[in-house]
Amino acid sequence: MPIEFRPLSYALGAEVLGVDLREPCPPDTWQAIHAAYLQHGVLLFRGQTISREQHIAFSRLFGELDRHDSLPMDRDATHPELLMVTNDAKPDGSPSNSKYTGQMWHSDMSFTLAPALGSLLRGVSVPPVGGDTLFSNMYLAYDALSAKMKALIADLHGVHHAERKNAGMSAQWEAENRRLNPPVAQPLVRVHPETGRKALYIGEKVKQIEGMTIEESQPLVDFLVRHATRPQFTYRHQWRNDDLLIWDNRCTSHLAMGDYDPRHRRHLERTTVLGTPSGHVAQLELSA
Ligand code: OGA
Ligand code: MN
Repeated sequence: MPIEFRPLSYALGAEVLGVDLREPCPPDTWQAIHAAYLQHGVLLFRGQTISREQHIAFSRLFGELDRHDSLPMDRDATHPELLMVTNDAKPDGSPSNSKYTGQMWHSDMSFTLAPALGSLLRGVSVPPVGGDTLFSNMYLAYDALSAKMKALIADLHGVHHAERKNAGMSAQWEAENRRLNPPVAQPLVRVHPETGRKALYIGEKVKQIEGMTIEESQPLVDFLVRHATRPQFTYRHQWRNDDLLIWDNRCTSHLAMGDYDPRHRRHLERTTVLGTPSGHVAQLELSA
């Protein structure tokens, strides 16, 4: 079957048909996949019963993989390239911390100095209903701003924190996360290195604009997040087992909905492609 791409929504995403990721990817197939990745921001491959090694090997076509040194608590012990997104209890019986992964709008690894280029998330075991993931097209979000707002944010940096939203993370996880990941300032607008287009770079991990107080920052951050996640900029992914979902973190953001029955298993595994260096450790303005 020749390779085929079908749009998943108006704003972004395409399903890729006619590719078996158990096989090595020939150069012309890879070129078509890469072009579609840049065009659509999110690619979906259904029915891929691939091994961890095949997942890692395919991911390497996109670039060097992150070994997740900033999230060692969540990576697989034998494959540091694989980050667990799971509600499976830990071996000692305590609850998983990574069941809360992604439950706020974000772009992967924005809180580090090498934010992710891309992520490849494999649905290993997903609930029968819910546990969806929302994506937003950050090019469209940027383009839709007024010229004055574009000028206002052109040189501003958002301060990204590594913490997860839900209470209930173990104290040990929180302490380790804080120790490894000081807040990092990233430009609110970034130029995509491959397409040359400007994209908004904002999410709910941004607590403050660098050089502004929290009180001054909050209304602007709130507006930009609300604006960037308007329904017309989004695609909502309903998972099936053996989906491989790939996204470009430089021009999309995403949110784990958490809309599922916690008695069901939700286990996904992610590789993360390293991006180019971006941002700096934040200089914080503490109060008004
Ligand atoms: C991630 C993530 C979303 C989800 O793996 O980076 O944000 O729905 N996951 O699990
Ligand atoms: Mn994520």
